[in-house]
Amino acid sequence: MLIMRICKWTLRIKMNVKVPAVLLTLLSLIRELVACPSVCTCSNIHTDCSNRDLLLSFNLISSQLPSNVTTLNLSRNSITLIDPGAFANLSSLLQLDLSRNQLFTLHPSTFYPLSSLEFLDLSSNFLENLPVDLFSELSNLRELILRDNRLKEVNSKQFQSLAELQHLDLSLNSLASMSLDLLDGLQGLEWLSLAGNRLRTIPRSVLEPLTALQRLLLEGNRWNCNCSLVPFKHWVEWMLYRGGHVDSIVCSLPAFLQGRDLRIIPMDMFQHCSNLPSSSVSATEGLIISTDSTAACLEQRPRVVNLRRAPTTLVLARLVCGVVWLMMVVVVMYSCIYAMLAAKYKQEQLKRSLMEVKEPEVEHEKEEDEKEMEHDFDKGAKAREHADWMVLPPEVCV
Ligand SMILES: *[C@@H]1O[C@H](CO)[C@@H](O)[C@H](O)[C@H]1NC(C)=O
Ligand SMILES: *[C@@H]1O[C@H](CO)[C@@H](O)[C@H](O)[C@H]1NC(C)=O
Ligand SMILES: *[C@@H]1O[C@H](CO)[C@@H](O)[C@H](O)[C@H]1NC(C)=O
Ligand SMILES: *[C@@H]1O[C@H](CO)[C@@H](O)[C@H](O)[C@H]1NC(C)=O
Repeated sequence: MLIMRICKWTLRIKMNVKVPAVLLTLLSLIRELVACPSVCTCSNIHTDCSNRDLLLSFNLISSQLPSNVTTLNLSRNSITLIDPGAFANLSSLLQLDLSRNQLFTLHPSTFYPLSSLEFLDLSSNFLENLPVDLFSELSNLRELILRDNRLKEVNSKQFQSLAELQHLDLSLNSLASMSLDLLDGLQGLEWLSLAGNRLRTIPRSVLEPLTALQRLLLEGNRWNCNCSLVPFKHWVEWMLYRGGHVDSIVCSLPAFLQGRDLRIIPMDMFQHCSNLPSSSVSATEGLIISTDSTAACLEQRPRVVNLRRAPTTLVLARLVCGVVWLMMVVVVMYSCIYAMLAAKYKQEQLKRSLMEVKEPEVEHEKEEDEKEMEHDFDKGAKAREHADWMVLPPEVCV
């Protein structure tokens, strides 16, 4: 009885005070010991859970990860769903690889706390559309890979908060068109792939905001190289001119251009485009300002800064400067000549007054001597003229 009582008493004490505390420390110890989920391999803050046949168990794994993990590789699993808060405690993540899974859809707040994330790979899944807000918190994202999904269209606001994005891979999807302002916020984008989609045409204004673009991949689309694509051709030429790279743009249509590469088709082949009604193509220095058909007209939209106009403004400014400079030169030359003439006139007067003084002496001398004298005077005048020219302040006659 006594032993029973003591047992109960200690048990009660332990239950009331010590047990929870001990259990908690034990749990946290275990948690720290198995900070790496058993199915993953971890090295410091890099966690590789790739290729492990993970099914729906990802949420369990994420709760076992240390919160300071920076790399998480979940590639080559069978993840079909990710709970909205799955990454809630992983705000240190810099790289997240979810490629080669079976994701059909993603919750809008899936990546909500990952504001440090720089690399996100969602390639080789079955994504058909993306929630508009999916990337809205990823303001530090540099590289986004959406390759090999089933995207038919991308919302025009999809990438608008990705100001740091440098690399965007949209290849091997089913994109048939692109909204006009899809790439508007991506001033830092250096690499873009739209290869292997169903694009037939692309408005020049879609690509124009990409002032940092160095490489553009467009292979494997069904380009219709009709008049609507002419402004885009000009943009490609401009991109190549400034040292960028654009891969082949093979035309599927029209028949007479089938199999030809748009980059090297001579502009003469598009001569008929400028004759079309309601279209005007005018080229200045390889830059084109065009309103190609009413469709293209509708595509035109207000832009804060029109980069196409900048070179024209520069040329105008240079022209005005040149004219002003020329006028200044004329004024300076005129004043120089005037000063010269004035000096010469003075010289002439001086000469005449000297002649008058010397006349009596010269009178009885031979004509030849007179001539010689005159010649000498001429020489002297010329020399003085020279001297006067030299004496003039240099800034007047520069
Ligand atoms: C993730 O692991 C796979 C191999 O399973 C590898 O090919 C891939 O490059 C890894 N991803 C990253 C971002 O390191
Ligand atoms: C995040 O951490 C909190 C408290 O540390 C915990 O209650 C929650 O289960 C964790 N969530 C996940 C998804 O791991
Ligand atoms: C990450 O956190 C674990 C404990 O959770 C700690 O042991 C480790 O040193 C931390 N690593 C870094 C790089 O901060
Ligand atoms: C050129 O082709 C595209 C895609 O097929 C089409 O949308 C557009 O209307 C065509 N433009 C002209 C001027 O025919």
